[in-house]
Amino acid sequence: MEGEPPAVVVPAGRPEYGDYQVNGIMGAAKRARTNPRELAANVVDELELGDVAESIEIAGPGFLNIRLKPAFLSAQITTTALIEKTTQPQRVVVDYSSPNLAKEMHVGHLRSTVIGDAVARTLELAGHTVIRQNHIGDWGTAFGRLLAFLDEVGDEAAQDAELRDIEALYVEASERFEKDPAFAERARQMVLALQAHEPSAIAKWEHFMALAQQHMSEIYARLDVSLRSEDIRGESAYNEAIGPMIADLQKQDDVLVESDGALCIFMPQFKNKDGEIQPMIVQKSDGGYLYHTTDLAALRYRRDMLHADRVLYFTDARQILHFDMLFAASRLAKITDVDVLLEHHPFGKILDKDGRPFKTRSGDNVLLRDLLDQAIERATTLIHDKNPELDSDQREVVARAVAIGAVKYADLSKNRLHDYTFDWDEMLAFDGNTAPYLQYAYARISSVFEKGNIDRTQCSEPPRLETEVERQLAVHLLRFQEVIEQVVADARPHYLCSFLYELTVRFMRFYEQCPILSEEPPIRDGRLTLCSRTAATLETGLKALGIRVLARM
Ligand code: ARG
Repeated sequence: MEGEPPAVVVPAGRPEYGDYQVNGIMGAAKRARTNPRELAANVVDELELGDVAESIEIAGPGFLNIRLKPAFLSAQITTTALIEKTTQPQRVVVDYSSPNLAKEMHVGHLRSTVIGDAVARTLELAGHTVIRQNHIGDWGTAFGRLLAFLDEVGDEAAQDAELRDIEALYVEASERFEKDPAFAERARQMVLALQAHEPSAIAKWEHFMALAQQHMSEIYARLDVSLRSEDIRGESAYNEAIGPMIADLQKQDDVLVESDGALCIFMPQFKNKDGEIQPMIVQKSDGGYLYHTTDLAALRYRRDMLHADRVLYFTDARQILHFDMLFAASRLAKITDVDVLLEHHPFGKILDKDGRPFKTRSGDNVLLRDLLDQAIERATTLIHDKNPELDSDQREVVARAVAIGAVKYADLSKNRLHDYTFDWDEMLAFDGNTAPYLQYAYARISSVFEKGNIDRTQCSEPPRLETEVERQLAVHLLRFQEVIEQVVADARPHYLCSFLYELTVRFMRFYEQCPILSEEPPIRDGRLTLCSRTAATLETGLKALGIRVLARM
């Protein structure tokens, strides 16, 4: 019924309460003006859960606690870890990473890259068609400065300027721009030359872009990020589309309004602190376009050419207003219909242990390439201490998976809306909610199969679930599908991290309390099934997060 509170069935808060808890009854009773406990009793009478539930208890003011039957759990267990594809697949555009390439990739690009990639992979796992879009910043005044500066240092130097120097070059170029009016003029001329598509300026720009994109792909490869060069569609790709878009907008009444020579969209819901409407400027009085002009053109492209049903954007929280205005303008100007879902998924900052923005000692941005070097160095030492028997090739593979996994997981496991503290020791710890803890559990399970010389994929004996730790593990395994669906709906990978962590905790309890290989066949094989489903779930789940598992660590 319209407005009726949903019947909320959630995993029980504590094992003593059973496995699942029904929360919607109190709300329903209030509306129906009846006694909630009486209503709960009626619900219990009506429920047909005979094959599923062992007990249904009414608790507190009108909760229901449900405990599942071991036979039901046991029968379900062999299909866990296999995600059922959605029956309503969508075309989902995921706009993520999208760095501004006038600068070398630094830690400020990490969250969008890692979170966006995990969400893209999870959407695919659930059966959606994902179209990755790397909306790189590759156009505008910053490139005028940079190219004017490269011109000055001479062609040869520019050729040699490996990207490692770009950060320094950009800083120097910006200083020159501030201090040297003649240089500032040359930089402005360069922007004009680019806009006019002058071949020599475009050639310089292309040369620089090739270098910058090369660097970007190297970082993605090291980070195991699934963005490919065909996913790049930068700001410059929309240059040609903006003019026709503005012409189309002008054909509609009341969308574009001229104000002080600029073309603006006025939306009454966006006011500045003095209560005046803050317009969205689509074209400046000098004819120039802005960040959101390009984004409007990108939305048209995503609707017309990519046929998007849903568009997700991952940027930090400073861009919330930008996207609010963009989405509202896009609806107003009928660029996207209400049936195209537009979602901005913002995230907080990365802080150091003292709660300050995470920077180098000298106060610069931490470059991603340095950060990854350091992660691998630390993981290599760690793995060497943990397992000195690994030969150096194996150690390299393990260290890399652990390092990258740790950096990504530290970010993914936190609610993305909050700021998070970057802490090497914490993210590389082998216990707690970390990637190494999960990877290590996976390696342990693999070693059980190796020791027993058993093929993990051939385990199908239903487990007996006679002990409580086994039951708890089985109940949790059954939740994988629902967790994946939650990540798909809310674009919050930390749900999946929490699920995998809790799975590992439950597995370790089982592993410590229940012998496996030494048991007689039916018990042994049933327990192996639990091991096999746990390993498969860890593998699929971590893969959806962009993290590798290893059979040996
Ligand atoms: N390049 C932008 C930045 O670094 C992020 C772009 C996000 N995507 C978009 N379509 N606006 O802040």
